[in-house]
Amino acid sequence: MNVRDELREKAAKLGRTVILPEGGDERTIKAALILKKEGIAEPVIVGTVNSVKDAAKGADISSLRIIYPEDFGDRDIFIKEHAGKRALKGVSFETAKEEIMNELNFGAMLLKKGYGDIAVAGAVNTTADVLRAGLRILGTKEGIRTVSSFFLMILPNGKFGKNGALFFADCAVIPDPTPEQLADIASATAENAKKLLDLEPRVAFLSFSTKGSAVTSHTEKIVNAVNILKNRTPGFLFDGEMQADAALVEEVGLKKAKGSPVAGKANVLIFPDLNSGNIGYKLVQRLAGAMAFGPILQGFSKPLCDLSRGCSAEDIVDTAAVCALMS
Ligand code: ACO
Repeated sequence: MNVRDELREKAAKLGRTVILPEGGDERTIKAALILKKEGIAEPVIVGTVNSVKDAAKGADISSLRIIYPEDFGDRDIFIKEHAGKRALKGVSFETAKEEIMNELNFGAMLLKKGYGDIAVAGAVNTTADVLRAGLRILGTKEGIRTVSSFFLMILPNGKFGKNGALFFADCAVIPDPTPEQLADIASATAENAKKLLDLEPRVAFLSFSTKGSAVTSHTEKIVNAVNILKNRTPGFLFDGEMQADAALVEEVGLKKAKGSPVAGKANVLIFPDLNSGNIGYKLVQRLAGAMAFGPILQGFSKPLCDLSRGCSAEDIVDTAAVCALMS
């Protein structure tokens, strides 16, 4: 079975409910119908009556649960709760009311209040907007400071990672992470890699330098991240700083980072910043023909997953499956 089918099958067993806040999007409606038909998750669509009807393009959506924010029973409770929280930041009641009626915020509030187990958005809205809805409405999980993201990359040949599956982080959230944030990103991604594919995480902190072959403020940041993680004794294998070839290719790993527990066999790659992470995943996706699942957001109090605006209905289904596995 390929990884995509494996993830969908695993998700179906969990029977999660997924909130899809972008009900005015045709791909979202199509995805909801697939999720329902294949039993991967129970979809809940959020939208206005007309936008959902238009997006359905004549398809039979009578089997789908649709929540219309304008006449939703708990609407006033949502407004009151959000306005109370935003007042602490000096935001007026009227502005807070407008904010919560926004589809992303409303969807996140539905998630927070237990109308679903997970939420998937970003087919229409930008990653930054999805993130802001999560940060404002959901907040971080207890004990977690950093919201970040990972991509599950599936390469066409099984040479690297677990049968071609590798985790890349962070490629979508934190523009210039501090060493502490890099350590947080590594821990969260290692945990989710284990959860998703039952693999033993081997985490490489990537750089243009391997084990001090160059020393600049950029490499020192990564060394600091590795040292912070060492002090936390996280219970998984990690090492750095190291170049991508040392992380992935056994012969190079032996040469450049002899004795490293992950060199040559890394399956989780931690990028030093958002430029390198975002460029890196897109190059592997486009040049190597890898499937890229994500960005899967991690660290929120409940699973809220993002999409690329160029996504297809099938991509939304895959993301919902991965998101379900994180719940
Ligand atoms: N983790 C935890 N808390 C955070 C995070 C984070 N990653 N980022 C911001 N916060 C908190 C802040 O501490 C702050 O808290 P406070 O109000 O209690 O002080 C609050 O959230 C607001 O912080 P700001 O920095 O003002 O948030 P802002 O809205 O400016 O930015 C955002 C946050 C949206 C995550 C920003 O960092 C961003 O735009 N990131 C890049 C997103 C992006 O465009 N990605 C690339 C495309 S994705 C793709 O190609 C698939």
